[in-house]
Amino acid sequence: MIEISLQENTVKLTNTYTNESEVVLDLGVKHNNYTTLSSQRLYQEYTSMINNYEVIKKYTYGETTLLDIVAITSLVFNELMNGKHTNIRALEVGSWFGCSSYFFANSLKTFSENNILFCMDTWNGSPDTMSHSIANYENAFEHFKSVMRYAGVYENIKPIVCDSTIGMDILQENFFDIIFVDANHTYDYVYQDIIKGIKKIKVGGLLIGHDCECYADELPPHLLHGDNKHLDGIEGYHTGVIKALDDIFGRDYSRFNASLVWYKRITQEDKDMIIQLEKKSSISYQRTDELVKAIKDSIQFIYNSSLDEKTETTQILLTDLVQVAQELENTMAEISGKINNKSIKLKANLLKSALIDYQITYENDFPQALMVLESSVIESFNDFWKCYSELDGSHVE
Ligand SMILES: C[S@@+](CC[C@H](N)C(=O)[O-])C[C@H]1O[C@@H](n2cnc3c(N)ncnc32)[C@H](O)[C@@H]1O
Repeated sequence: MIEISLQENTVKLTNTYTNESEVVLDLGVKHNNYTTLSSQRLYQEYTSMINNYEVIKKYTYGETTLLDIVAITSLVFNELMNGKHTNIRALEVGSWFGCSSYFFANSLKTFSENNILFCMDTWNGSPDTMSHSIANYENAFEHFKSVMRYAGVYENIKPIVCDSTIGMDILQENFFDIIFVDANHTYDYVYQDIIKGIKKIKVGGLLIGHDCECYADELPPHLLHGDNKHLDGIEGYHTGVIKALDDIFGRDYSRFNASLVWYKRITQEDKDMIIQLEKKSSISYQRTDELVKAIKDSIQFIYNSSLDEKTETTQILLTDLVQVAQELENTMAEISGKINNKSIKLKANLLKSALIDYQITYENDFPQALMVLESSVIESFNDFWKCYSELDGSHVE
C-alpha cells in the first residue's frame, strides 16, 4: 500500500510494505523566478485541493484514485514551478464527469487565471468505465459543466465535445504545454491519441496519461499474444495502454511512483519519430494500392480467360496472385495496427484464403474452380475493396 503524506511543504509517498519513501513534490524549494506565489501559499493551495478529493470524487462519480490524482497534480505543480507558469494551454483527452479535470484545472489556476484547460470528450462514456451506465439517465456533459462551475474552475475550462479520432486532427500543432490522455483505453485509440498528442504538444511539453500498470516487458507474456493487446482491463491490466506506449516509446517514458500515471517530456526526436512513422505508413498505403490493383487486374484476366479452358499463363498468374495476396495480408496487418479498423486485416486474410482455395480447385477440379472464382474470390475481393476504400479516400482511385 502507498501512504500519502503532506507535511512541511512536501508531498511524500511511502510504500508501507517496504518502508521506502519518495518525495514527489517539494513546494519549499526555490522555484522559478517569475512565480509570485510563496511556497507557503502553494502548499496551502495544494493541501486544500487534495483535501477536496472525497467531495469531488462523490460528485463526479470518480474512479481515479487519490494516488493518481496526487500524481497528476504533482506533475502539473512541478511543471509550473520550474518553467512557464502563465498562459499555459493544457489539454485533457477524456474528462467524463470531471474528476481529473477539476484537479488539473485547479492546479493550473493556482499559478495563473490565464491558464486554460481544454477538455475533449464525446461525453458518451466508455463501456470500461464503471460509471458508464449513469449516462443512461443523466446528461454527462451537463453534469460535468455543473460540477466544474460548483468547484470554481469553470472559467478555466474550454470543453470540446468531439471524438478524439477527429478532434485531435483539427487542433493546432505544437500548441499545448501539457496534454493528459485518458479516453478510450483500447490499443488503436490510445495509440492514436498518444501519436496525435505528440504532434499537438510543444517541444519540451509534458505528455501525461492514465492507466498504465507496468512496462510491457513486465506484463505476463500471454497478454500480448495475438489480439489480446486490443482487449482492455484483462487480468487487471490495461494492455492497450501498455502496448501502445511500448510501440511508441519503448521503455523511454516514466511511471509516477506506484500510480497508474505515466509521463514523457516530448523532444524534437519524438516529433521526428512521428514524421518517420507517417512516411512509413504512407509507403505502406502506396504499396497496398499497387498490390490491390495487381490483384484486381489478375482476377479480371483470369476470370475472362478461365471461362474457356485452363491455360499455362493462368496457372502461373494464379501462383503469383497467391503470393501477392500474402503480401497484401502482411501490409494490412501493419496498417490496421495504426488505424482503428481491425476488420481490414481479416478481409485481406479471407481474400487470400479464397485465392488458395481457387488455386487448389483449379489444379484438381476445374469446373468447381470456376464456381469458387465467381463466388468466393470475386466476392471476398469486393468485400475487401469496399472496406479498403472506406479507410481513407486519399490513397485509392
Ligand atoms: C476513463 S473516462 C475519463 C475519466 C476522467 N479522466 C476522470 O478522471 O474522471 C474515459 C472518457 O473518455 C471518453 N471517450 C472514450 N472514447 C473517446 C473518444 N474516442 N474521443 C473522446 N472521448 C472519448 C468517454 O466519454 C469517457 O468520458
